Amino acid sequence: MTNADAPVLELRGIQKSFGASRALAGVHFSLRKGEIHALCGENGAGKSTLMKIIAGIHEPDEGTVILDGEIVRIDGPAHAMRLGVGLVHQEIALCGDATVAENVFMPEINASRRGWMDYAALNERARALLKRLGQDIDPKRRVDELSLSQQQLVEIAKALSLECKVLILDEPTAALTEVESVALFQVLHELKEQGIGIVYISHRMAEIFEHCDRATVLRDGRDVFCGAIESITPDDLVRSMVGRDLGQYYPPKLGAHAANDESDCLMEVDDIADGERVHGISFKVRRGEILGIAGLMGAGRSELAESVCGLRRTRRGTVHLKGKPLTIRKYADALRHGIGYLSEDRKAAGLFLDMSVAQNICSMALQRVSSRWGWVQGAAQRKLATDLGTSLKLKCNGVSAEASSLSGGNQQKVAIAKLLATKPAVLWMDEPTRGVDVGAKSEIHHILRELADQGVGVIVISSELPEIIGLCDRALVIHEGRIAGELAAEDMTEESLLRLASGFSAQEAH
Ligand SMILES: Nc1ncnc2c1ncn2[C@@H]1O[C@H](COP(=O)(O)OP(=O)(O)OP(=O)(O)O)[C@@H](O)[C@H]1O
Ligand SMILES: [Mg+2]
Repeated sequence: MTNADAPVLELRGIQKSFGASRALAGVHFSLRKGEIHALCGENGAGKSTLMKIIAGIHEPDEGTVILDGEIVRIDGPAHAMRLGVGLVHQEIALCGDATVAENVFMPEINASRRGWMDYAALNERARALLKRLGQDIDPKRRVDELSLSQQQLVEIAKALSLECKVLILDEPTAALTEVESVALFQVLHELKEQGIGIVYISHRMAEIFEHCDRATVLRDGRDVFCGAIESITPDDLVRSMVGRDLGQYYPPKLGAHAANDESDCLMEVDDIADGERVHGISFKVRRGEILGIAGLMGAGRSELAESVCGLRRTRRGTVHLKGKPLTIRKYADALRHGIGYLSEDRKAAGLFLDMSVAQNICSMALQRVSSRWGWVQGAAQRKLATDLGTSLKLKCNGVSAEASSLSGGNQQKVAIAKLLATKPAVLWMDEPTRGVDVGAKSEIHHILRELADQGVGVIVISSELPEIIGLCDRALVIHEGRIAGELAAEDMTEESLLRLASGFSAQEAH
């Protein structure tokens, strides 16, 4: 065995239970120096739990951790950092009212015994780290002023600052655009050259096959596969994750005739503008269609949704639903009229993490589970939550479980169920399958298609071009707050979408 092949990290027989539920049932895992190792598995398979054990956040019930050939007992997150383990969390965990530089160097500031820090130097180092990631973010800005993707990059810079020998990234690209992901991978390849072992968790098959050297698959808390990426196909990988063949990935689309039927207009948005990011956008949503909204990060897609749904102050524009003009001043108005919005930011989407799954799912549809006198009825609440949970194949320890105990992807399903409970006429879904595994993703796509078939207007904002192409009957492409073009299902390709998204006109795009 050459030195480069020596494992920098080895896990043997790791077990971990939370109460009665077993998250890890004896996992073996080995990470070499200078490799990018994909850790794959369905939502709830145990990926984050396993990595939190290496990062000292959870203690294993059983099993051995071997770092650089020595058995170690990791005694908390600070100890893990000293041992050279860096973890970029799945959920962004930054301190919003501290600056970018303070967040990046939080571990160092905490460890400093001198009682003072050279802030000018910290700012410079933070600027340099972010620059490596292709970002020009002012290190003195407060973190809560940054966009979601910028926050994610700060989180990554924080792990890079540790100069670790094991770097774990738990779905780092879920909130990043293509361009930002490319910059991240460049850095990861540099770190790999320096001999750092990298564990990479992602639900995006294309990334795994392009950048990773080996893959380990977890299923129900066990490692069921480990091998070189060259030795398998994406289908093999998916099969070992879900334990079966997936079959038809995307649901069938509307026929061209139905998709082009102008007469059945459900919602019409006319000349909406917020004076800032949305500059006069008009479009129609037809009954029964899935309308895609594509565009680069920052193009104004989420801002468009927020403008229509009362989450953003607008300067002008009208919204008609089923021919009637609507007055929408706040989100509650939109919901009352039957327009629901799933935010791209799961935390802001308002999951009450310390409340049960059932309470979360019913939280915006209380009248559906209340008695005539307005009392919320527990049994009705549990039934509605169970029904919606079943249809979304939600994996949790019963609907009474606390939302915080669910895996990331399953929290996303709760956010979707919560919106479906309101029985919306028009459903805006902003990055609905972010962080959701391949199997569940396909389930969500089929559910969106079923809703459309029932007459709901479904609008899907997505940064994943294959999702727009595979799922939508029609797509609007937004560029700098305006519609750059519209593509029918048969004209959608990654190239045509990207050209419009980068500001070429429709004629040039064809
Ligand atoms: N703090 C906790 N309390 C109770 N159960 C937990 C806790 N953390 C995780 N679990 C459970 O352990 C199992 C594994 O969860 P984990 O977060 O490791 O999954 P994952 O593979 O990272 O999934 P995802 O792709 O959705 O992020 C799940 O069933 C989850 O509900
Ligand atoms: Mg996870």
